[in-house]
Amino acid sequence: MVLNRDGSFLVWIMAVQLLVCGVYATDNTKDCKLLSESMSERKVLTRLEPLTQKDFTADASDGKDNYTYVFHLCGDASGVPNAGLVQIDKKTLKKTVIGMYNSTQAIGGSDWVMLIYGKGERYDGHCSKEMRRAIIMISCSRKTDVGQLEVVLEDRDRDQECFYLFELDSSAVCPAIPSQLSTGSIILIIGVCVLAVYLIGGFLYQRLIVGAKGMEQFPNYAFWVEVGNMTADGCDFMCRSRNREEAPAYRGVTADALEEETEERDDHLLPM
Ligand SMILES: *[C@@H]1O[C@H](CO)[C@@H](O)[C@H](O)[C@H]1NC(C)=O
Ligand SMILES: *[C@@H]1O[C@H](CO)[C@@H](O)[C@H](O)[C@H]1NC(C)=O
Repeated sequence: MVLNRDGSFLVWIMAVQLLVCGVYATDNTKDCKLLSESMSERKVLTRLEPLTQKDFTADASDGKDNYTYVFHLCGDASGVPNAGLVQIDKKTLKKTVIGMYNSTQAIGGSDWVMLIYGKGERYDGHCSKEMRRAIIMISCSRKTDVGQLEVVLEDRDRDQECFYLFELDSSAVCPAIPSQLSTGSIILIIGVCVLAVYLIGGFLYQRLIVGAKGMEQFPNYAFWVEVGNMTADGCDFMCRSRNREEAPAYRGVTADALEEETEERDDHLLPM
């Protein structure tokens, strides 16, 4: 009865946990529309999940004007619909869309992800008046959850394939650290700890509470002596190749001495 109730209680807890995890696992990177849908690019995008739902800003100047760039991962940057990266002129507050997140490409390596937003506003004169494009390089940095967005360069003095380049540090794209300790060594460490606690605790108990002296201070001294003797007997029985009866006199003496000793020890233990 009791076991049964515990069982259903556990199932309930697991169900609630699953529900909670399910709610938290909603993937905000799904709002990014890939230029060409592919499983591998989706996988790269999901690595960036910790960076969603946040506007990143960076200031830059092209010598003439000052701009603020706003980047949002798979969401509206600075409130402009479908814009993933927006340039804002600080003086006129004019917003220019650099890239749209419904035209995303995501390329990833072991400790970096390159995100490309295409289909931005057309250039006025440069780059054969093609559409603007933003490349955001996200690199692994274990020290920072989410770093500062930096403008690297605006490459527009060519005929085509111009781009705005940004970089961002984040621990989200770092490879998982493999556990430094193997299961075996963890078990060994636990074993050593348990042994240490047993020895120290037992020693203190024997010394302070029982009031034992000398070797008797070892916890369960009599038991371990017995274990030792029995192991020795076992070894003697298993491993000795020569016949036991070969040296009767010698054996007899040892056995007598041992018996005496055991009796002596038993007497000593009795009052405890
Ligand atoms: C841009 O900002 C710098 C300082 O950050 C300032 O000296 C300069 O006048 C600004 N330029 C324009 C065009 O506003
Ligand atoms: C992305 O959104 C813009 C603005 O709403 C739209 O004009 C464009 O067609 C969309 N692109 C794609 C690939 O859906």
